[in-house]
Amino acid sequence: MDVIIRENYGQMSRYAAEIIAGYIRTKPNCVLGLATGRTPVGTYKELIRMHREEGLDFSEVRTFNLDEYLGLGMNLDKPYDLDQSYARFMHEELFKHINIKKENIHIPDGLAKEPKKYCAYYEEEIRKAGGIDLQLLGIGGDGHWGFNEPGSSLGSRTRVVALNEQTLNDNYNAFFKKAGFKRSEMPCFAITMGIGTILEARNIMMLASGGGKADIVAKCLEGPITAQVTSTAIHLHGGDVTVVLDEAAASKLIRYEHYKQVERLKSQYGL
Ligand code: F6R
Repeated sequence: MDVIIRENYGQMSRYAAEIIAGYIRTKPNCVLGLATGRTPVGTYKELIRMHREEGLDFSEVRTFNLDEYLGLGMNLDKPYDLDQSYARFMHEELFKHINIKKENIHIPDGLAKEPKKYCAYYEEEIRKAGGIDLQLLGIGGDGHWGFNEPGSSLGSRTRVVALNEQTLNDNYNAFFKKAGFKRSEMPCFAITMGIGTILEARNIMMLASGGGKADIVAKCLEGPITAQVTSTAIHLHGGDVTVVLDEAAASKLIRYEHYKQVERLKSQYGL
């Protein structure tokens, strides 16, 4: 596992975007797993810049998003700024700015008539695409990946889940409140890829930014593996695992100096 620490959010985002761009340049039809939330917004901005200024080509790229609120989906009949679906988020923050084909975008359908059947279908779509080459991840305040809340099985698959209080509060404050929603109006169920699904991605990259994430990042990277902090499953992954943090998010890591030293040595020896 590589733990990369950058001074601030901008540098963290540029580093992450460079890794993603590397996948796209090496394998133009690569399959990317994508996340929503505040953390990857800077990475998406940088990818958009690379597309505009450097010709980064998304025309063959295929994407699968981690999650979506149950009951929400991209609904063009609703005024745009009120639609808090992750589908709309992805459209606004990335997809509408790049040359990705609509048919290559996959986001769990929160409006699916039969959500349970739909979850099995989503897994099948990932399999049919040949699996995910690189899964981008954030980390929730309670340590979740996707919407895999504490207590989710580390072998879990795409399914319907209930959101816990902390996640509802975090996401209300970050998104729903600004759009004028009452806390009681928030959807409290979601469709999410499972931890088992995420671990099948060939490589993963987790981002975290800000002092508010410092404690949970330390638990995730340096605490015991536990279903109470589902992102600790990071230690069960066998492929390339990259964690990109800004200084504030890295500030509670016991082995902070070690991670810095490893990065210095790797760059010195060209590894
Ligand atoms: C969203 C997702 C979540 C977020 C996490 C952190 O697709 O997968 O696990 O990554 O809740 O959210 P932010 O980035 O807003 O702190």
